[in-house]
Amino acid sequence: MQPVTITDLAAVVALDHQRLGGMWGLESYRREIDSPNSELWILLPTVADPETPALIGLGCFWAILEEAHITLLMIHPDYHRQGLGQLLLWQLLAQATRRGQERATLEVRASNGGAIALYEKFGFTQIGRRKGYYPETGEDALIFWLQGLHQPEFALKLDLWKAQVTQHIAHHGWQLSPFAALIPPPFST
Ligand SMILES: CC(C)(COP(=O)(O)OP(=O)(O)OC[C@H]1O[C@@H](n2cnc3c(N)ncnc32)[C@H](O)[C@@H]1OP(=O)(O)O)[C@@H](O)C(=O)NCCC(=O)NCCS
Repeated sequence: MQPVTITDLAAVVALDHQRLGGMWGLESYRREIDSPNSELWILLPTVADPETPALIGLGCFWAILEEAHITLLMIHPDYHRQGLGQLLLWQLLAQATRRGQERATLEVRASNGGAIALYEKFGFTQIGRRKGYYPETGEDALIFWLQGLHQPEFALKLDLWKAQVTQHIAHHGWQLSPFAALIPPPFST
């Protein structure tokens, strides 16, 4: 895992286009990289392999005062249900904690059961609903939050989750490289 740099932009925009229908374009991502209040992280395979996409996952939050507002979390569709979404969410929460953020918040489509299950697994709870938030479908957004990121016990939770997530992805043949990028199966250290 690593913060996004200018050289990753094309792969980032391509994954956004594929999964989110072009939610953010090149300029928007460039602004995220330049902003000191934005944390944009990617999961990359450590080796160039024609079988593996250039970019496996993408996550972002905005640091707004004491809040980390998660704006993006996505995993390449070929790699769902292998624990990589959890890994990226873990990274965002760990980074928010390092920044001293006290809570994480996000909006999710009411129909997005998979993402909701993921957030609930990490202790997020629903605190509200924005009616008709998504103009193209009129669908509601559910607002979730997770409090207490600055509490000492949260650091212990993060350690526990890290161990669980690392074990989970290992079952699917992944391992984190020493620099926290992602080594795809078969291991190629
Ligand atoms: C949401 C998303 C990031 C999850 O990524 P992922 O790598 O598949 O998730 P994980 O494998 O880490 O799943 C973690 C847990 O979340 C839950 N979960 C994830 N996808 C699920 C699904 N489709 N159905 C039910 N539960 C699901 C499960 O509890 C899962 O644990 P388990 O596999 O041990 O049962 C991915 O589906 C995605 O990119 N979706 C499109 C973009 C999106 O909707 N982002 C969220 C916007 S708010």
